[in-house]
Amino acid sequence: MRKKVIAGNWKMNKTLEEGLALASEVVNIAKDEVPADVNLVMCIPYISLAAISKIAGDKVAIGAQNVYQKESGAFTGEISASMLKSVGVKYVIIGHSERREYFGETNQQLADKVNIALANGLTPLFCCGETLAQREKGIHIDFVNTQLTEGLFHLSPEDFKKVVIAYEPIWAIGTGVTASDEQAQEMHAKIREHLASKYSAAVADEISILYGGSMKPDNAKGLLACKDIDGGLIGGASLKSRDFIDIAKSY
Ligand code: 13P
Repeated sequence: MRKKVIAGNWKMNKTLEEGLALASEVVNIAKDEVPADVNLVMCIPYISLAAISKIAGDKVAIGAQNVYQKESGAFTGEISASMLKSVGVKYVIIGHSERREYFGETNQQLADKVNIALANGLTPLFCCGETLAQREKGIHIDFVNTQLTEGLFHLSPEDFKKVVIAYEPIWAIGTGVTASDEQAQEMHAKIREHLASKYSAAVADEISILYGGSMKPDNAKGLLACKDIDGGLIGGASLKSRDFIDIAKSY
């Protein structure tokens, strides 16, 4: 049975005080309203991790939005996986398209980040997804497969099974344009096929693949009902406790 994951990505939003307020709303509502088999995660700015992980309780896991690929040392401004672990972080987003685009993160760097996250017992939320131009050229499936191959396929099957994948078409992120249920399901099935070709159908069947890109309470039900969609990575709608919880309840 694949794990169902609803993860919020706050991106660069919320001061500590604002974040504490939002997180405590989510924590309070989630314990009464979110089904037990749905894993809720909030991926929040570094500065809030320590304080918010103290109030998160059992129902909500805390995630970071990035990690540096070295264990420690002279890397001014960076944060290591062991530091994340030390403040109660369980998940870490790796390879979000914004990091790939604005910070030049390469598949090789991301593979190193995945390794260091796993070595520290963190669950990588590994992102992949194509641009609109790539989709229009018909190269989106190959592009996403290459991201997965170069970022993840060095892992042993045992380690690979600890990863959660998020398919986030770049054209759907923050645009209000969601992939249709059919477009998303098609891509998730292709991703699972690609995982099976490297590992096995049984391993591919165990991997949770989340959809991300303008997921909202009014479109979540259709997306989450798709056979190969195992949850969501939610940006804008995770900044409102009611919307985030309503998405989690759509399962
Ligand atoms: P939106 O839900 O705001 O489109 O963002 C999606 C995303 O990038 C989550 O990582």
